[in-house]
Amino acid sequence: MKTLTNKRIVLGVSGSIAAYKAPDVVRRLQDLGAEVRAILTQGGAKFITELSLQATSKNKVHNNLWDNEAELSMGHIELAKWADAILIAPASANTIANLSAGKACDLLTNVVLATDAPVLIAPAMNQQMYASSAVKDNLSVLLARNIKLISPEFGEQACGDVGEGRLTEPSKIAKQVSEVFSSTKLTGKKILITLGATIEPIDPVRYLSNHSSGKMGMALARASIEAGAKVTLIYGNVSIPLSEESTNILVGSGEEMHQAVMENIKDQDVFIACAAVSDYRVKNIEKNKIKKENTELTLELIPNKDILVDVCKLKQKPICIGFAAETQNLIENAQNKLKNKGCDAIILNDVSKRDFGFKNDENEVVFLTKKYSQKIEKNSKQIIGRKIIEIIVEKFL
Ligand code: C5P
Repeated sequence: MKTLTNKRIVLGVSGSIAAYKAPDVVRRLQDLGAEVRAILTQGGAKFITELSLQATSKNKVHNNLWDNEAELSMGHIELAKWADAILIAPASANTIANLSAGKACDLLTNVVLATDAPVLIAPAMNQQMYASSAVKDNLSVLLARNIKLISPEFGEQACGDVGEGRLTEPSKIAKQVSEVFSSTKLTGKKILITLGATIEPIDPVRYLSNHSSGKMGMALARASIEAGAKVTLIYGNVSIPLSEESTNILVGSGEEMHQAVMENIKDQDVFIACAAVSDYRVKNIEKNKIKKENTELTLELIPNKDILVDVCKLKQKPICIGFAAETQNLIENAQNKLKNKGCDAIILNDVSKRDFGFKNDENEVVFLTKKYSQKIEKNSKQIIGRKIIEIIVEKFL
């Protein structure tokens, strides 16, 4: 996996002659695996065309806060939520001043105000401007707000001056963006995650299963890997590619998943039961394909063992996190599950809502322990996954 695989970067391009390097910044971010969407400010558009950014990013360029059509397809709030990080390169003195004043005067400043993703700025301007106390003061305000500075380089400038103010080389900018995502919070920790749907055979060609895609489990796996954990995935039927940096164990039925978990649970620090395990399996699996007849057919089902419950019963149990997919009495049902299963936390998922949950790329959850509850607002499963991992680290590790 590349350092920016599955990362969504919003690149803001503002008014500096160095804007001509922005397509190269896009390419270097893509080299590291990122998907890029560009915002071009009015000043930026004086130096570079929308088409160059569109051709390199392979996405429509966003440039107008007041464009109804653009707001309908991906509005500024959606763009702010879409981003895993926002990079402004080049960041002009004017954009830096607007950010420092907290202005919402164009699309870029609005998106920065509306995001909770990390923001990086790579200033580029004349060396005298960069050395001015106004720019320095504005930058110190931004640093105090945790905005990361990618300092400009010293050298010959487009205007003929020599000094500090040249945009940092695009490959170095891309590397600094990738460093935002590397963390050591889970270094040395082992995490076992179940994901996807189990398949309960009826006969050699038919089975019982469910709609789980494995997307939430994979988002948790990626977030754990990013944080430095050693991850084992025990997966059933999934509709997404798995990470190459984890140990991946394929299973079919709930019984097989149970056995694989029990064989691999020793020494794990955290167990996340994200799989949609069938509650029941067919009692007598037919050896041969069941023939169609004009009479009723009854399948006798027996309960599957609950993997999460059995892991929670272990003498040396890891931190155990379960999921609760509910359609009614959400909190009450989730609290009961927390108690009945004996786990440390439950992640409550409202599956009655059609626009997120099963199969979707977005989700909205509540992280619940006996004493604590935190809603994680609707967002991409990747961002929700990172927040869940952050809470696990903060509360339990
Ligand atoms: O009881 P229910 O199926 O709603 O519980 C959901 C939680 O329990 C999920 O975390 C799921 O992965 C886990 N589970 C399990 N083994 C089962 C059934 C559910 O680990 N047989």
